[in-house]
Amino acid sequence: MSHELDPSFNRDARRSDLLLHPTESLTNGRPIDGAIELCVRLHEWCGVYLEPTKTYLIENRLRSLMDDLGIHDYKSLIEIASSGSGMPIRNRIIDALTTHETLFFRDSAPFEVIANHLVPGIREMSRFGSPRLSVWTAACSTGQESYSIAIQLLESVPDIKQWNLSILGTDVSSAIIERARTGVYFDHEVRRGLTPQRLQKYFVQESEDWRINDCVREMVHFEVQNINDSTQPQGPFDVIFCRNVLIYFSVDDARRILQKIAGRLASSGRLFLGSSEVPRNINDFLTMENIGGATCYRRKE
Ligand SMILES: C[S@@+](CC[C@H](N)C(=O)[O-])C[C@H]1O[C@@H](n2cnc3c(N)ncnc32)[C@H](O)[C@@H]1O
Repeated sequence: MSHELDPSFNRDARRSDLLLHPTESLTNGRPIDGAIELCVRLHEWCGVYLEPTKTYLIENRLRSLMDDLGIHDYKSLIEIASSGSGMPIRNRIIDALTTHETLFFRDSAPFEVIANHLVPGIREMSRFGSPRLSVWTAACSTGQESYSIAIQLLESVPDIKQWNLSILGTDVSSAIIERARTGVYFDHEVRRGLTPQRLQKYFVQESEDWRINDCVREMVHFEVQNINDSTQPQGPFDVIFCRNVLIYFSVDDARRILQKIAGRLASSGRLFLGSSEVPRNINDFLTMENIGGATCYRRKE
């Protein structure tokens, strides 16, 4: 299998690496062969490709887990994670080694495209029945992306509660999905991407945190799901977001996953990737489009 990475496709991964503190890192001297095996296992478990030479990144992210477990080398960590009862540890490794960076209304154009272009099209096609809109936010992290779609729909589709609507958010990390389900955010999280008006309208403050209102929370359903697995939500989906995750995958893996995701799109459905993601070798199954300033993809019939 090739681990060739498209330099532009992996740009965000490198940028996030730079946020970590290289000075703490190189001193600890854990054996590099343990790191290589760890990266191979991470790739097997969730498809994310982490360069084993990023010693400082791996150490930084695993330090508190290893301290917690009283484990001092990667080989023992891998052994425990791979044992029959090791699934919870494996999940914590995936959780620690993947990047969960997200915000409300990230790169706002796709949300406006849903409201201004896709919803009117669906309404037009369902003149004689109740309109149906099925959305999947794959790799949704702590849920800001999924809830932003719900808020956008509440604001731009006055009769949305009469629609046959489903918004599914999935992520490989069970801890992250648990957070998404609670809909409770730290102050600095709601300050990213939400206007003060939206914050006041859709959240209630609970001491230092903010809880999303039930009317928004009930519109979204979250599940733990690995986009690298053969089983995927069935669809068909009118809208799929799979943003800022495939940058951490190899070109071959990203293509394979996109091909599976394309199979879950409705014939008139649209797929949105991250704004800086330029996938390669997908022209045989996806067609690129520009709608209202946003790039999106349709399934080729
Ligand atoms: C950088 S966040 C992107 C969140 C959101 N899509 C956005 O654009 O703001 C990447 C998310 O992908 C998730 N992830 C990584 N590998 C995954 C996999 N194999 N299946 C599902 N989710 C995965 C991580 O847990 C993380 O929450």
